[in-house]
Amino acid sequence: MINESAAWRELEAHAAELSQRHLRELFAAEPDRQACFTRHAAGLTLDLSKQRWSAETLTHLLALAEQAGVPGAIERLLAGERVNVSEDRPALHTALRLPAEASLVVEGEDLVPAVHRTLERMTEMVALFHAGQWRGATGKPIRDVVNLGVGGSDLGPLMVTHALTDYRPDDVHTIEVHFASTMDGSQLADYLLRLNPETTLFVLSSKSFTTIDTLSNANTARDWLMARLAGGDGVDTALIMRQHFIGVSASTEKMNEWGIAPAHQLEFWEWVGGRYSLWGAIGLPIALVTGMSHFRALLTGAHAMDRHFRETPMADNLPVLLALAGIWNVNFLDIRAHSILPYDGRLEYFAAYLEQLEMESNGKSVTHEGREVGYATCPVLWGQLGPNAQHAFYQLLHQGTQAVECDFIAPLRRYDRVEDAATRAHLKGQHRLTLANCFAQSRVLMLGDDAIDDDGPRPGHKRYRGNQPSSTLLLDELTPSTLGALIALYEHKVFVQATIWGINPFDQWGVELGKKIAGETQRILESHQGLATMDASTRALIEAAWAAEES
Ligand code: F6P
Repeated sequence: MINESAAWRELEAHAAELSQRHLRELFAAEPDRQACFTRHAAGLTLDLSKQRWSAETLTHLLALAEQAGVPGAIERLLAGERVNVSEDRPALHTALRLPAEASLVVEGEDLVPAVHRTLERMTEMVALFHAGQWRGATGKPIRDVVNLGVGGSDLGPLMVTHALTDYRPDDVHTIEVHFASTMDGSQLADYLLRLNPETTLFVLSSKSFTTIDTLSNANTARDWLMARLAGGDGVDTALIMRQHFIGVSASTEKMNEWGIAPAHQLEFWEWVGGRYSLWGAIGLPIALVTGMSHFRALLTGAHAMDRHFRETPMADNLPVLLALAGIWNVNFLDIRAHSILPYDGRLEYFAAYLEQLEMESNGKSVTHEGREVGYATCPVLWGQLGPNAQHAFYQLLHQGTQAVECDFIAPLRRYDRVEDAATRAHLKGQHRLTLANCFAQSRVLMLGDDAIDDDGPRPGHKRYRGNQPSSTLLLDELTPSTLGALIALYEHKVFVQATIWGINPFDQWGVELGKKIAGETQRILESHQGLATMDASTRALIEAAWAAEES
């Protein structure tokens, strides 16, 4: 195991000494620290100088990555080897963003033509919607599209459509895209109250097409459409099914069973993990909002990051360096909490997206060989828009008892395309205000009381100890391309960490038992049989639900 390697032991010894030093001392000791720990690629700048490490730390961490076989693992991932060992398949989300002229032969088959055929089908579909020619069963153009999906079939498209709202194409028939994921139906119920069934279409997004959350919403949506539209002039159920549903899944069979018209099925492949799937057909809502050219630019940006990841030596490789900062914090400084703090309202859902990407991928405690790891893996990761979080949980970052690693994310340019000069000037002022807050917060977290000149005596409740590590990620501008690169950066970071920890980031067996037990519990709730098999607490909860239903 990696914690038995020479590099790990050296890092432990090094950490024992370095962890005593405050970040302010490290800055004082290394005048060229900013340059030493800053790298650029694909429209992104990563400044790791506010991590609690030194140049020597990085040398040790690079040796650890070498001993863990990171360079070879990157090659195996991108070449399509079966890196998802427990499910015996490759993890080839990177193939979804290869250009049409590329070729990737995996186990005798070139995957690129099929990937681009799907993109072509998406292009045709989006063109129909944007021309106002995708019509509902009564002949009216579709205006509202509701994505029904959960986890990777929801969070990626949700996050990206919000992030790229500035990139809606002009002069097209506008499609409003909505997302409903919750199994209790509360999001969907709200749409069903507000939307017109004649002009509403549902995209059923589910890799497996067995997820109960999504299928429950889908069944409710189908009943709603049938109740309101069927029986009208020439409107039969087949027409409603064809014109009001698109299915996106890796299972054609299950889409057929549910009743999705074959012409309106978009397929993807078992070798794309759910939380890595926004780059293909699952990204249809993104393409409906931004248009296909912006969707393709998103893929181009991600591909630029893939090339950087493959071709750049580890010491200059953004995903590798970001991963190593995390490894250092978790495994050697014992920092088990990580906060994601974007300073751009368009990235409202970025933290939620990363929560799944990081914790569903690396929230594991056994190695590929099934042995218990003897070290910590994925930290607890959460976040929210930085400016809003300043008024919510930053108190804990500044004066609480937990050490927390933070990622500050911000675009350097904003509002260049606002036409009205006065409004543009105001908004640019707001952007500067936001950047000032972003830079100030990472500085105060680093320096604590030393961030201010006036260092007179102060009571304890007004003191700041600082020394919280952070990374700052600057986007030249938030565009489809830089967003693609940003997401790919985190995907690869997760992979590098998993490689070092010796765990599989591409399965999620941990969620299966809960699904099974929920099924059993639902049977008891519905049938009123089998309560005695439950523990006392769960029994009382079920009885309370029954009593509420009867009252
Ligand atoms: O239950 C977890 C999970 O399988 C995620 O990995 C996945 O993104 C989500 O459920 C949705 O799965 P599907 O796309 O198959 O409906």
